Amino acid sequence: MIKMTIIGSSSIDLVVTTSKRPNQGETIIGESFKTVPGGKGANQAVAAARLGAEVFMVGCVGEDNFGETIINNFTANGVNTTYVERVTHSETGTAHITLAEGDNSIIVVKGANDYVTPDLVEKALNVISESDVVLIQQEIPKETVEYVAEICFANNVPLLLNPAPARPISKTVIEKATYLTPNESEAAILFEDKDIHEVLKEFPNKLLVTEGKNGVRYYDGINEIVIPAYSVEAVDTTGAGDTFNAAFAVAVAEGKSMEDSIRFANRAASLSVTKFGAQGGMPTREEVEGSL
Ligand code: ATP
Ligand code: RIB
Repeated sequence: MIKMTIIGSSSIDLVVTTSKRPNQGETIIGESFKTVPGGKGANQAVAAARLGAEVFMVGCVGEDNFGETIINNFTANGVNTTYVERVTHSETGTAHITLAEGDNSIIVVKGANDYVTPDLVEKALNVISESDVVLIQQEIPKETVEYVAEICFANNVPLLLNPAPARPISKTVIEKATYLTPNESEAAILFEDKDIHEVLKEFPNKLLVTEGKNGVRYYDGINEIVIPAYSVEAVDTTGAGDTFNAAFAVAVAEGKSMEDSIRFANRAASLSVTKFGAQGGMPTREEVEGSL
Protein backbone atom coordinates (compact mmCIF):
# COMPACT_ATOMS: atom_id res chain seq x y z
CA MET A 1 0.00 0.00 0.00
CA ILE A 2 1.48 3.37 -0.90
CA LYS A 3 1.70 6.14 1.68
CA MET A 4 0.64 9.69 0.84
CA THR A 5 0.57 13.00 2.67
CA ILE A 6 -1.85 15.67 1.52
CA ILE A 7 -1.31 19.22 2.69
CA GLY A 8 -4.23 21.48 1.95
CA SER A 9 -7.67 22.91 2.52
CA SER A 10 -10.69 21.28 4.11
CA SER A 11 -13.98 23.08 3.56
CA ILE A 12 -17.71 22.67 3.48
CA ASP A 13 -19.25 23.27 0.06
CA LEU A 14 -22.52 25.24 0.08
CA VAL A 15 -24.01 24.32 -3.27
CA VAL A 16 -26.90 26.06 -5.00
CA THR A 17 -28.26 24.39 -8.11
CA THR A 18 -30.07 26.72 -10.50
CA SER A 19 -31.08 26.73 -14.16
CA LYS A 20 -29.27 30.01 -14.87
CA ARG A 21 -26.84 32.37 -13.14
CA PRO A 22 -28.33 35.68 -11.90
CA ASN A 23 -27.13 38.87 -13.57
CA GLN A 24 -25.57 41.56 -11.41
CA GLY A 25 -28.31 43.08 -9.22
CA GLU A 26 -30.83 40.38 -10.20
CA THR A 27 -32.66 37.96 -7.87
CA ILE A 28 -33.77 34.59 -9.21
CA ILE A 29 -35.32 31.44 -7.71
CA GLY A 30 -32.92 28.48 -7.46
CA GLU A 31 -33.69 24.75 -7.51
CA SER A 32 -31.87 23.28 -4.50
CA PHE A 33 -29.33 23.90 -1.76
CA LYS A 34 -27.01 21.28 -0.23
CA THR A 35 -24.00 21.27 2.10
CA VAL A 36 -21.34 18.65 1.34
CA PRO A 37 -17.68 18.09 2.28
CA GLY A 38 -15.17 19.78 -0.04
CA GLY A 39 -11.94 21.77 -0.16
CA LYS A 40 -9.24 20.77 -2.62
CA GLY A 41 -6.97 19.15 -0.02
CA ALA A 42 -9.74 17.16 1.63
CA ASN A 43 -11.15 16.09 -1.75
CA GLN A 44 -7.75 14.78 -2.83
CA ALA A 45 -7.28 12.98 0.49
CA VAL A 46 -10.67 11.23 0.25
CA ALA A 47 -10.12 10.36 -3.43
CA ALA A 48 -6.72 8.79 -2.70
CA ALA A 49 -8.04 6.84 0.31
CA ARG A 50 -10.93 5.43 -1.76
CA LEU A 51 -8.32 4.27 -4.29
CA GLY A 52 -6.53 2.29 -1.57
CA ALA A 53 -3.68 4.57 -0.42
CA GLU A 54 -2.72 5.12 3.22
CA VAL A 55 -3.46 8.84 3.51
CA PHE A 56 -2.32 11.43 6.06
CA MET A 57 -4.09 14.79 5.88
CA VAL A 58 -2.39 17.97 7.11
CA GLY A 59 -5.03 20.67 7.53
CA CYS A 60 -7.10 22.92 9.77
CA VAL A 61 -10.79 23.27 10.58
CA GLY A 62 -12.66 25.45 13.07
CA GLU A 63 -14.20 24.47 16.41
CA ASP A 64 -17.63 24.52 14.75
CA ASN A 65 -20.14 22.01 13.38
CA PHE A 66 -18.64 22.20 9.89
CA GLY A 67 -15.24 21.28 11.37
CA GLU A 68 -16.77 18.29 13.10
CA THR A 69 -18.49 17.15 9.89
CA ILE A 70 -15.18 17.32 8.01
CA ILE A 71 -13.29 15.28 10.59
CA ASN A 72 -16.05 12.65 10.71
CA ASN A 73 -15.95 12.47 6.93
CA PHE A 74 -12.17 11.90 6.94
CA THR A 75 -12.62 9.11 9.47
CA ALA A 76 -15.44 7.51 7.48
CA ASN A 77 -13.18 7.47 4.42
CA GLY A 78 -10.14 6.08 6.25
CA VAL A 79 -8.04 9.30 6.13
CA ASN A 80 -5.61 9.71 9.05
CA THR A 81 -6.38 12.99 10.90
CA THR A 82 -3.44 13.13 13.33
CA TYR A 83 -2.31 16.37 11.65
CA VAL A 84 -5.73 17.98 11.22
CA GLU A 85 -5.92 20.73 13.83
CA ARG A 86 -9.00 22.49 15.16
CA VAL A 87 -8.36 26.23 15.49
CA THR A 88 -10.32 28.47 17.84
CA HIS A 89 -9.60 31.80 16.15
CA SER A 90 -11.24 31.09 12.79
CA GLU A 91 -14.26 29.32 11.34
CA THR A 92 -14.06 26.30 9.05
CA GLY A 93 -13.43 27.22 5.42
CA THR A 94 -16.41 27.33 3.08
CA ALA A 95 -16.86 27.21 -0.69
CA HIS A 96 -19.94 28.93 -2.11
CA ILE A 97 -20.78 27.08 -5.29
CA THR A 98 -23.33 27.83 -7.98
CA LEU A 99 -24.10 24.93 -10.32
CA ALA A 100 -25.76 26.25 -13.45
CA GLU A 101 -25.78 25.63 -17.20
CA GLY A 102 -23.54 22.54 -16.89
CA ASP A 103 -20.70 24.23 -15.00
CA ASN A 104 -19.79 25.60 -11.59
CA SER A 105 -18.63 28.96 -10.26
CA ILE A 106 -17.04 29.06 -6.83
CA ILE A 107 -16.14 31.61 -4.16
CA VAL A 108 -13.85 30.19 -1.47
CA VAL A 109 -13.70 31.76 2.01
CA LYS A 110 -10.51 30.22 3.38
CA GLY A 111 -11.21 30.62 7.12
CA ALA A 112 -9.23 28.03 9.11
CA ASN A 113 -7.34 26.96 5.97
CA ASP A 114 -5.21 30.07 6.42
CA TYR A 115 -3.72 28.38 9.50
CA VAL A 116 -2.20 25.51 7.53
CA THR A 117 1.22 27.02 8.23
CA PRO A 118 4.82 25.79 7.90
CA ASP A 119 4.71 25.18 11.69
CA LEU A 120 1.85 22.72 11.28
CA VAL A 121 3.65 21.02 8.37
CA GLU A 122 6.76 20.67 10.52
CA LYS A 123 4.80 18.55 12.99
CA ALA A 124 4.11 16.09 10.16
CA LEU A 125 7.72 15.96 8.95
CA ASN A 126 8.09 12.29 9.87
CA VAL A 127 5.15 11.09 7.76
CA ILE A 128 6.10 13.45 4.94
CA SER A 129 9.64 12.11 4.72
CA GLU A 130 8.31 8.52 4.65
CA SER A 131 5.64 9.25 2.02
CA ASP A 132 5.76 7.81 -1.49
CA VAL A 133 4.25 11.05 -2.75
CA VAL A 134 3.02 14.38 -1.32
CA LEU A 135 0.15 16.46 -2.76
CA ILE A 136 -0.42 20.17 -2.25
CA GLN A 137 -2.76 22.82 -3.70
CA GLN A 138 -3.22 26.59 -3.27
CA GLU A 139 -6.13 27.20 -0.90
CA ILE A 140 -3.53 27.53 1.88
CA PRO A 141 -0.80 30.16 2.47
CA LYS A 142 1.92 30.59 -0.15
CA GLU A 143 4.71 30.21 2.47
CA THR A 144 3.40 26.73 3.24
CA VAL A 145 3.62 25.68 -0.40
CA GLU A 146 7.17 27.08 -0.54
CA TYR A 147 8.15 25.27 2.66
CA VAL A 148 6.68 21.94 1.50
CA ALA A 149 8.53 22.24 -1.82
CA GLU A 150 11.78 22.72 0.15
CA ILE A 151 11.31 19.77 2.48
CA CYS A 152 10.10 17.36 -0.19
CA PHE A 153 13.09 18.25 -2.35
CA ALA A 154 15.50 17.92 0.58
CA ASN A 155 14.02 14.54 1.56
CA ASN A 156 13.77 13.20 -1.98
CA VAL A 157 9.99 12.81 -1.75
CA PRO A 158 8.05 13.31 -5.02
CA LEU A 159 5.77 16.35 -4.83
CA LEU A 160 2.65 16.90 -6.93
CA LEU A 161 1.77 20.59 -6.93
CA ASN A 162 -1.77 21.24 -8.12
CA PRO A 163 -1.65 25.02 -8.71
CA ALA A 164 -5.34 25.61 -7.99
CA PRO A 165 -6.77 28.17 -7.53
CA ALA A 166 -4.30 30.05 -9.73
CA ARG A 167 -1.71 32.42 -8.30
CA PRO A 168 1.88 33.15 -9.39
CA ILE A 169 4.45 30.57 -8.25
CA SER A 170 8.21 31.17 -8.04
CA LYS A 171 10.61 29.38 -10.40
CA THR A 172 12.28 27.73 -7.40
CA VAL A 173 9.02 26.11 -6.28
CA ILE A 174 8.24 24.97 -9.82
CA GLU A 175 11.71 23.45 -10.10
CA LYS A 176 11.32 21.58 -6.81
CA ALA A 177 7.94 20.07 -7.70
CA THR A 178 7.96 16.69 -9.45
CA TYR A 179 4.58 17.18 -11.14
CA LEU A 180 2.60 20.33 -11.89
CA THR A 181 -1.06 19.92 -12.84
CA PRO A 182 -2.84 23.17 -13.80
CA ASN A 183 -6.07 23.25 -15.76
CA GLU A 184 -6.03 25.43 -18.88
CA SER A 185 -6.91 28.73 -17.19
CA GLU A 186 -4.45 28.10 -14.34
CA ALA A 187 -1.72 27.30 -16.90
CA ALA A 188 -2.42 30.61 -18.69
CA ILE A 189 -1.96 32.54 -15.42
CA LEU A 190 1.06 30.53 -14.27
CA PHE A 191 2.93 30.90 -17.55
CA GLU A 192 1.67 34.40 -18.36
CA ASP A 193 -0.10 33.40 -21.56
CA LYS A 194 3.09 32.03 -23.15
CA ASP A 195 2.46 29.52 -25.93
CA ILE A 196 1.44 26.38 -24.02
CA HIS A 197 3.11 24.04 -26.54
CA GLU A 198 6.44 25.76 -25.89
CA VAL A 199 5.88 25.69 -22.12
CA LEU A 200 5.10 21.96 -22.20
CA LYS A 201 8.46 21.33 -23.90
CA GLU A 202 10.23 23.03 -20.99
CA PHE A 203 8.73 20.51 -18.55
CA PRO A 204 8.75 17.03 -20.09
CA ASN A 205 6.85 14.40 -18.06
CA LYS A 206 6.27 17.02 -15.37
CA LEU A 207 3.67 19.51 -16.59
CA LEU A 208 0.22 17.98 -17.10
CA VAL A 209 -2.46 20.36 -18.31
CA THR A 210 -5.96 19.08 -17.60
CA GLU A 211 -8.49 20.08 -20.24
CA GLY A 212 -11.82 18.96 -18.77
CA LYS A 213 -13.73 16.60 -21.03
CA ASN A 214 -10.93 16.75 -23.64
CA GLY A 215 -8.47 14.99 -21.33
CA VAL A 216 -4.87 15.76 -20.36
CA ARG A 217 -1.96 17.22 -22.35
CA TYR A 218 1.76 16.69 -21.63
CA TYR A 219 5.11 16.41 -23.41
CA ASP A 220 6.93 13.09 -23.11
CA GLY A 221 10.35 14.39 -24.19
CA ILE A 222 9.71 13.61 -27.88
CA ASN A 223 6.05 14.32 -28.61
CA GLU A 224 3.19 16.35 -27.21
CA ILE A 225 0.52 13.87 -26.19
CA VAL A 226 -3.16 14.21 -25.33
CA ILE A 227 -4.63 11.35 -23.33
CA PRO A 228 -8.36 11.67 -23.98
CA ALA A 229 -10.95 11.79 -21.21
CA TYR A 230 -13.64 9.11 -21.02
CA SER A 231 -17.03 10.11 -22.31
CA VAL A 232 -19.66 10.13 -19.56
CA GLU A 233 -22.91 11.89 -18.70
CA ALA A 234 -21.63 14.67 -16.41
CA VAL A 235 -23.88 15.60 -13.46
CA ASP A 236 -21.43 17.79 -11.49
CA THR A 237 -17.79 18.40 -12.49
CA THR A 238 -16.82 19.88 -9.09
CA GLY A 239 -13.83 17.90 -7.79
CA ALA A 240 -12.92 16.34 -11.16
CA GLY A 241 -9.49 17.94 -10.94
CA ASP A 242 -9.05 16.73 -7.35
CA THR A 243 -9.96 13.16 -8.30
CA PHE A 244 -7.58 13.34 -11.26
CA ASN A 245 -4.69 14.59 -9.07
CA ALA A 246 -5.21 12.01 -6.33
CA ALA A 247 -5.59 9.12 -8.77
CA PHE A 248 -2.58 10.18 -10.83
CA ALA A 249 -0.45 10.43 -7.67
CA VAL A 250 -1.58 6.99 -6.49
CA ALA A 251 -0.83 5.43 -9.87
CA VAL A 252 2.66 6.94 -10.35
CA ALA A 253 3.58 6.15 -6.74
CA GLU A 254 2.61 2.54 -7.44
CA GLY A 255 5.06 2.54 -10.35
CA LYS A 256 2.67 2.84 -13.32
CA SER A 257 4.02 4.60 -16.43
CA MET A 258 3.11 8.23 -17.08
CA GLU A 259 0.62 7.26 -19.77
CA ASP A 260 -1.02 4.50 -17.72
CA SER A 261 -1.20 6.78 -14.69
CA ILE A 262 -2.98 9.46 -16.71
CA ARG A 263 -5.42 6.91 -18.15
CA PHE A 264 -6.16 5.59 -14.67
CA ALA A 265 -6.65 9.15 -13.36
CA ASN A 266 -8.83 10.16 -16.32
CA ARG A 267 -11.03 7.16 -15.63
CA ALA A 268 -11.32 7.96 -11.93
CA ALA A 269 -12.09 11.63 -12.71
CA SER A 270 -14.71 10.72 -15.33
CA LEU A 271 -16.52 8.53 -12.78
CA SER A 272 -16.38 11.37 -10.24
CA VAL A 273 -18.37 13.73 -12.47
CA THR A 274 -21.30 11.33 -12.80
CA LYS A 275 -22.60 12.13 -9.30
CA PHE A 276 -23.43 15.27 -7.33
CA GLY A 277 -20.87 16.87 -4.98
CA ALA A 278 -17.10 17.11 -5.06
CA GLN A 279 -16.72 13.78 -3.26
CA GLY A 280 -20.07 12.20 -4.18
CA GLY A 281 -18.81 10.35 -7.25
CA MET A 282 -15.20 9.69 -6.24
CA PRO A 283 -14.70 6.02 -7.11
CA THR A 284 -13.13 3.14 -5.23
CA ARG A 285 -10.22 1.20 -6.71
CA GLU A 286 -12.62 -1.62 -7.73
CA GLU A 287 -14.90 0.82 -9.52
CA VAL A 288 -12.03 2.30 -11.54
CA GLU A 289 -10.47 -1.04 -12.43
CA GLY A 290 -13.84 -2.59 -13.20
CA SER A 291 -14.56 0.18 -15.69
CA LEU A 292 -11.16 0.39 -17.41
P1 ATP B 1 -12.33 21.18 -10.80
O1 ATP B 1 -11.72 22.49 -10.43
O2 ATP B 1 -13.78 21.29 -11.20
O3 ATP B 1 -12.09 20.10 -9.82
P2 ATP B 1 -10.36 21.26 -12.92
O4 ATP B 1 -10.75 22.47 -13.70
O5 ATP B 1 -9.21 21.36 -12.01
O6 ATP B 1 -11.62 20.66 -12.14
P3 ATP B 1 -10.59 19.70 -15.32
O7 ATP B 1 -9.54 19.96 -16.32
O8 ATP B 1 -11.95 20.30 -15.57
O9 ATP B 1 -10.03 20.07 -13.89
O10 ATP B 1 -10.83 18.13 -15.17
C1 ATP B 1 -9.83 17.26 -14.68
C2 ATP B 1 -9.99 15.91 -15.34
O11 ATP B 1 -11.27 15.38 -15.01
C3 ATP B 1 -9.95 15.95 -16.85
O12 ATP B 1 -8.64 15.92 -17.36
C4 ATP B 1 -10.75 14.70 -17.21
O13 ATP B 1 -9.97 13.55 -17.09
C5 ATP B 1 -11.82 14.68 -16.10
N1 ATP B 1 -13.06 15.35 -16.51
C6 ATP B 1 -13.44 16.62 -16.23
N2 ATP B 1 -14.64 16.92 -16.77
C7 ATP B 1 -15.04 15.78 -17.39
C8 ATP B 1 -16.20 15.42 -18.16
N3 ATP B 1 -17.21 16.29 -18.37
N4 ATP B 1 -16.27 14.16 -18.65
C9 ATP B 1 -15.28 13.25 -18.44
N5 ATP B 1 -14.15 13.53 -17.73
C10 ATP B 1 -14.04 14.78 -17.22
O1 RIB C 1 -11.82 21.47 -6.46
C1 RIB C 1 -13.13 21.52 -6.01
C2 RIB C 1 -13.19 22.23 -4.69
O2 RIB C 1 -12.80 23.57 -4.88
C3 RIB C 1 -14.57 22.27 -4.07
O3 RIB C 1 -14.87 21.15 -3.28
C4 RIB C 1 -14.56 23.57 -3.30
O4 RIB C 1 -14.33 23.36 -1.93
C5 RIB C 1 -13.44 24.39 -3.94
O5 RIB C 1 -12.50 24.76 -3.03
